[in-house]
Amino acid sequence: MDNRAIGMFDSGIGGITVLKEIKKLLPNEKIIYLGDTKRFPYGSKSKETIIEISRQCVKFLISKNVKLIIIACGTATSQSLDILKKEFNIPIIGIIEPTVKYIKDNINKEKEKIGVIATSGTIKSGQWEKKIKEEVKNVQVINEEAPLLATMAEQGWISNKVAEYTIKEYMKCFKNIDKLILGCTHYPLFEKLIRKELKNNTEIINTGTKLAEFLRRYIEDNDLQNNEKTNEYKILLTDLDNNFNKIAERLLEENLTTKIEKAEI
Ligand code: DGL
Repeated sequence: MDNRAIGMFDSGIGGITVLKEIKKLLPNEKIIYLGDTKRFPYGSKSKETIIEISRQCVKFLISKNVKLIIIACGTATSQSLDILKKEFNIPIIGIIEPTVKYIKDNINKEKEKIGVIATSGTIKSGQWEKKIKEEVKNVQVINEEAPLLATMAEQGWISNKVAEYTIKEYMKCFKNIDKLILGCTHYPLFEKLIRKELKNNTEIINTGTKLAEFLRRYIEDNDLQNNEKTNEYKILLTDLDNNFNKIAERLLEENLTTKIEKAEI
């Protein structure tokens, strides 16, 4: 048993899609979510900057006495996870490993075509393709950078004409794929529009769902369950921003006035 909270971070609203999945599968866990809105976007920053920022986020969450840390961000996972794991003596889980594990266990045919859509930083790191091919032989991976989507998600532009057109453009290279990994945690906000552009039998993978399943097993296997009857969660933002509150409230279907506070990093 470990009654401390789970710590999570992302550059902004994206990780809330992961928080939502964790709350569904692990309703008894306490969570401290750090949204680094002051330094959004992560996707266009250099690897060195992402490592430094991620390091600061991990130190901040450790100072809040969390029991483990979830990197609810594809950009930070792909560029800093391996380094952070060596530097800190706390379990750190990113979004790539749980999804790759799921794919490994769910390959349905020879030479599956797997699409990955993510930020520029994530695609340039090549981590998704590398990790998938380490685990699954004989797959084709099609990568696409989508630098506009996270910014549109932060603006709440997730279902207007601009979003429709942008998604149409980004989906052009994914017409014939078997699975599409939403490699940035902001992208599940566009899932409805993405669905419309793909073949019916293309599976869309929300990394938050896979991470929550992986986390549930991890917590059970390592006996880290919270056994107090409280499941409160807190959202700490490096820059308070009303847009964030609006979108997060819509996603979590809850009034967040008492849950959102300023984080001093
Ligand atoms: N949600 C993040 C990711 O998964 C970050 C997007 C950004 O800040 O550019 O990559």
